[in-house]
Amino acid sequence: MDNLEQAFNEIIEKDLKVEPRDWMPEKYRANNIRQISQHAHSEVIGMQPEGNWLLRAPSLRAKQVLLAKIQDEAGHGLYLYSVAETLGISRQEMIEQLHSGKAKYSSIFNYPALTWADMGAIGWLVDGAAIVNQVSLQRTSYGPYSRGMVRICKEESFHQRQGYEIMIHMANGTPEQKAMAQDALNRFWEPALMMFGPHDKDSAHTSDSMKWKIKRETNDTLRQKFIDKTVPQIEFLGLEVPDKNCKWNEETGHYDHSPFNWDEFWNVVKGNGPCNAERLEHHKKAHNDNAWVREAAYQYAKKTEGELV
Ligand code: 3HC
Repeated sequence: MDNLEQAFNEIIEKDLKVEPRDWMPEKYRANNIRQISQHAHSEVIGMQPEGNWLLRAPSLRAKQVLLAKIQDEAGHGLYLYSVAETLGISRQEMIEQLHSGKAKYSSIFNYPALTWADMGAIGWLVDGAAIVNQVSLQRTSYGPYSRGMVRICKEESFHQRQGYEIMIHMANGTPEQKAMAQDALNRFWEPALMMFGPHDKDSAHTSDSMKWKIKRETNDTLRQKFIDKTVPQIEFLGLEVPDKNCKWNEETGHYDHSPFNWDEFWNVVKGNGPCNAERLEHHKKAHNDNAWVREAAYQYAKKTEGELV
């Protein structure tokens, strides 16, 4: 092993951070580019289901809060694209990978947001799952990713609370509102659990990602953490857990749950979910319609290059 690889291994062993200019194994670089760029795609595509509800929000306050959340997600996407760029991939290449289907984004966003209670379920469950995952990623070994997570986690907590606040209103509202909240929970529960990825034994990347401390906890560990945290919140709402086998297990100190429908998961990941085509078409249209903004910014930067602004 040469000195460079030795130095890299020492950084990982000592829980230090790998920085953009450090030598790193090409597979470490590629794994980070893959995960970080897909994380960024998820943030940006994730704005679509919520964006559809901006004009239908039931009050000015609800609209303001939802708008603030969506703006945060755009910012999260930009941080993460910038982090991926430090590893040597261009923004254009990442967008091309998204548009060609080569790159993924979180399958949860391929489900439709049908009612206002879905805005609650998405903020509470989707951002709640993202928090569990991202709090862990604050300790990821790649420096820029770790620092980006610290910033993102602060904002994510607001997102989860705004969603849970909607669920509290609905669950304590009229019987129709409570039924709407239960319906949203029923539809988003399992897709939210799938955000943590396949079981560890079926995960293509977890062993490398744990070895290099890209991941600090495995898919199943984080998923279980989320289930254990969220079931009491469902009970507090007076709603039913959409899984009859979800029961506290004194022995393990965790909630048991039914097996997941991985056929459904992979079917959606492969592009056959209810909204896959719509999400990508919308992104492509927005990207092409706003090409002039990128061009103008590029020309302005070129013209003012070197000038003190
Ligand atoms: N949706 C789509 N694809 C998924 C997926 C999901 N929920 N879970 C896993 N996959 C894909 C992986 O990308 C991988 O495919 P690839 O090789 O083409 O990249 C394949 O399934 C095998 O899965 P692995 O478990 O081996 O993959 P990872 O080790 O990358 O683990 C992960 C998956 C846990 C999602 C990990 O990538 C991760 O922690 N990513 C960072 C967090 C993230 O991306 N979260 C997405 C939601 S962001 C969000 O919700 C923002 C909030 O503000 C709304």
